[in-house]
Amino acid sequence: MGQPAPRYEGRAKVTGEARYPSDVRLPRTAHACLHLSRIGRGTIRGFDLTAARAVHGVIDILTHETVGDAIRQTPAIYQGGYTSDSLLPLGSAEIAHWGQPIAMVVAETYEAAREAAQRIVVTTAPHPSPAVDINAPGAETRALEPMMVQAGDFDAAYAAGPIRIDARYTTPAQHQNPMELFATQCVWEGDRLTVHEPSQYVNSVKFGLAEQLGVPADNIRVISTHVGGAFGAKGFLTQRTALVAIAARRLGRPVKLVATREQGFTVSGYRAETRQHVQLAATRDGRLTALRHEGWELTSRADTVAMGGASMTTRLYACPNILGRVNTVAADRSTPGFMRAPGEVPYGFALETALDELADRLGMDPVELRRVNDTQTEPVGGLPYTSRSLMRCFDVAAATFGWSGRSPRPGSMREGDWLIGWGCASAYYPAQAGNSAARVRLTADGTAHVASAGHELGQGMTTMMAQVAAEELGVPLERVTVSLGDSDLPPAVVNGGSAGTASVASAIMIACDAIRARLGVPRDAPYAALRAAVAASGLAFVEELGEARAHGRSPESLPDMYRGRALPLGGVELPDRVQFAMGAQFVELRIHRWTREIRVRRAVGAFAAGRIINPRTSHSQLLGGMIWGIGSALHEHTDIDQRNAAYTNANLADYLVPVHADISEIQAILVSEEDRLVNQAGVKGVGEIGVVGVAAAISNAVFHATGRRLRDLPIKLEHLL
Ligand code: MOS
Repeated sequence: MGQPAPRYEGRAKVTGEARYPSDVRLPRTAHACLHLSRIGRGTIRGFDLTAARAVHGVIDILTHETVGDAIRQTPAIYQGGYTSDSLLPLGSAEIAHWGQPIAMVVAETYEAAREAAQRIVVTTAPHPSPAVDINAPGAETRALEPMMVQAGDFDAAYAAGPIRIDARYTTPAQHQNPMELFATQCVWEGDRLTVHEPSQYVNSVKFGLAEQLGVPADNIRVISTHVGGAFGAKGFLTQRTALVAIAARRLGRPVKLVATREQGFTVSGYRAETRQHVQLAATRDGRLTALRHEGWELTSRADTVAMGGASMTTRLYACPNILGRVNTVAADRSTPGFMRAPGEVPYGFALETALDELADRLGMDPVELRRVNDTQTEPVGGLPYTSRSLMRCFDVAAATFGWSGRSPRPGSMREGDWLIGWGCASAYYPAQAGNSAARVRLTADGTAHVASAGHELGQGMTTMMAQVAAEELGVPLERVTVSLGDSDLPPAVVNGGSAGTASVASAIMIACDAIRARLGVPRDAPYAALRAAVAASGLAFVEELGEARAHGRSPESLPDMYRGRALPLGGVELPDRVQFAMGAQFVELRIHRWTREIRVRRAVGAFAAGRIINPRTSHSQLLGGMIWGIGSALHEHTDIDQRNAAYTNANLADYLVPVHADISEIQAILVSEEDRLVNQAGVKGVGEIGVVGVAAAISNAVFHATGRRLRDLPIKLEHLL
């Protein structure tokens, strides 16, 4: 561990040998294509399927009229269930939002299914004035009391504050847009169903589908060996899976669905748009005396979903008087969900920009402002951080960046026609873990095999699993093989919330401990002694199951893990302590004096996240995160049609993500940190922290370059004209 081992599945990926779920070829496969609503909220009056049925090769068309009660209503994850939203798939004539699946064609070929889906004629009665976004008059605001954070007396302290900041920020709707589309293949063999689907949580799909279809969970197997990007969008069961499963059952053939890029914008969740209000008061030497952060997040009518980032932003800095609030605003939209540091990216943008505004007002260096307010105890409950290396990250990143060479006055750094802007911000992400299990087998020939449902999202889970088993047992890495991404394997946490490595590594360590204990081999025994012990045991292999219970979870929660309910826990949610990975982001921009073109010239991030099992894959994760951070600041936003809430840029030509030309010099630094408390593995996770803080560092750099404070993302050149 700690070695930069090359990616376990790298060869399979670059040679094309790796089979993603939609690559799996099953004999006699029929192809499905969804038909999505082309109106916003409304009602279906009827279908004319004549033209669709006339397409050569069409086999079956599912609508709410033909599906009947084949799919049961089940609760969404937000109510303790399994689904990513609570709309029943093809459940009724009611349309909740534009892009809702309202029919599915099954045909002999993909082309026939797609053509027929386009020929479906639907008579509809649109709602006269659907609420399309967070600012729409018909949208319904609701305060979420459980997400309220309070300490001291904010109002009095703010009123008395010598220096005050009061600012409002907005962040846009965004879509994850993983390269791999939303695909599902289902095949029944008798009453047993196998699902091939890219997923961050195969066990949750299995148990959710069992509830929806009313079949025993033991009869369902979900396989997701490789995932071509997920970013939160493949975390939980979406409507498509049950539809493909019942189509396959009706036909007695395998059915394959690959939703188009455009359909992907509404068949899974997305990052909801937010409005935010931050108020800060501070002494003249920069100590915070009052901090208020309130957020409004868009949600659907059907589901109250909130990422609730204010519960974290209110607890990052020392401050005696705190108020945090979160509200949802329900509109006629599809249910939002998780995307790349879902709470931390939007809320972190607002808080870290507000701090920069405060630093400017105080005439103080923004790094020093964070140092003055740094703390090792969370300010609301007084709980200790298990470890916190925020200022070490700032020191390392600032030195690498050359921050001491900054001329603080806005607009004072120039090169020819380019205005130069330097900005920085804190990054933070809760160190979370969820209950997970892993099985390790040590064979008499000296090889080891490690298995856990886990998930390889491209983040390096497979490599990490092999490394942990190799090191814990003392087996050479090349003699370790790995199985994952299969609900038949010991269950693992949802691979979200940056909790995968911490959770699964802990389970592998427990299994390896048990193997060594059984063989009577001490921890640092040489490989030869381990092999000799297996041979002497007379067994062909020794195998143990490790079950890791996350800190804060009760012993009674372990059975839940076996029912697809292992969710991450950490951050500020624990009764006895606070757990965060921390980092510092620095950005240099150049903005053209006349055209206002904005280019990120370099970005330096330094991150302390406990133990790093593989610096190579972790470094890649962090670089990827920082690039997404640049996207979240300057490129990514989903356009919403004000008539019907259609997403009008639902393709990769119009929905901009950062490309090579947008990224020049980028550096991610791993700052060493030891945390023995956080979990068995000492791992905090690096999946999402790289994204956090980049947008604020960029908006702060824009201010430094131009003197213009932009509080609405994404920042575009037209905002600087
Ligand atoms: Mo991530 S948005 O927690 O999958």
